[in-house]
Amino acid sequence: MVARRPTRTVLRLVAGLATAALLPAVLAGCARNEFPQSTFNPRSDIASMIQSLNLQLIFWAVLIFIVVQTLLIIAIVKFRARPDSPEPKPVHGNTALEIAWTIAPAIILAFVAVPTVLTIFKTQAKPARTDLVVKVVGHQWWWEFQYPGLGIVTANEMHVPVGRTIVVDIATADVIHSFWFPAMGGKRDAVPGRASRIWFTPDTVGVFPGQCAEFCGLSHANMRMKLMVDTPAAFADWVELQRRPPAGGGAAPESTAAVAAAMAFAEATPLPAGSLAARGKEIFSQSACIGCHSIRGFSAGVLGPDLTHFASRTTFAGSLFENTPDNLARWLTDPTGRKPGALMPNLGLTPEQVNALVAYLVSLK
Ligand code: CUA
Repeated sequence: MVARRPTRTVLRLVAGLATAALLPAVLAGCARNEFPQSTFNPRSDIASMIQSLNLQLIFWAVLIFIVVQTLLIIAIVKFRARPDSPEPKPVHGNTALEIAWTIAPAIILAFVAVPTVLTIFKTQAKPARTDLVVKVVGHQWWWEFQYPGLGIVTANEMHVPVGRTIVVDIATADVIHSFWFPAMGGKRDAVPGRASRIWFTPDTVGVFPGQCAEFCGLSHANMRMKLMVDTPAAFADWVELQRRPPAGGGAAPESTAAVAAAMAFAEATPLPAGSLAARGKEIFSQSACIGCHSIRGFSAGVLGPDLTHFASRTTFAGSLFENTPDNLARWLTDPTGRKPGALMPNLGLTPEQVNALVAYLVSLK
């Protein structure tokens, strides 16, 4: 029995190592099937420039690591103390060696500095063209997206067309935030009283996760967002949907003709009288909701996200929850419990009121 012990230990070690190796794969299975939020998956021109710089710097760092560690190991082994070795002789400087180890790092740093500075200039330069301007406003703790040329305001999910150069003007409504879609390129801070800007040309259709990258309070980690890179046709459809007046009435953004069209739309698509959604709209207009949220042509609050086409979004509350009726009901019942520090108060709604509000929100397609 004693002889079998080492075998068992070895088996345990192998089993342990195998588990450790498999664990990431197993845990990855738990993650939602999303594009990785990593800078190593560039999907735009700027992100690709940064990736190529990153790889160059990693090459130099790895090369230096290997050279230094090799020399270190050789020195440790070759010059280690032995029982009969004499006292080492004191050495006072070595001019050739000192010149060499001053010049070598200077040359290596030049290899690092030149591509770095060139990339900084390229990514900070004005874009060669501007196809779409989106104004981003950071709020504690959600993102607002305004499309000034299109009369659209939305939250947490930014839609852009593939292959077009997007210029993003970045601002904040309160503290410093940082706008960051890793697949699109570098972070850029939203600083009170200052205008920052970034541009990128997405090269792949898909949904890319983003995240506030500057600590901004209790729910900083919950200040997420999504970038929907659409085909030009899908983007045009999205624009058309967003420009429509909200369900159950409201005005279009500009011109009396647009308002008249909106009235006609509202008449053509009323919330059925006595329906749960109509009751929800009534509760919305009689409670604190209306003071903070905009529903175009119906309410004009600016503290919370615009809800005109709330139901067209896949997530809500800083892109923290999937936009499902169940999640909405839980959110309306206890916002601060669901997202720490959320500025939306608990309105003490009854389950009936919550159901009606959910029905109204779900109707805002
Ligand atoms: Cu906003 Cu961190």
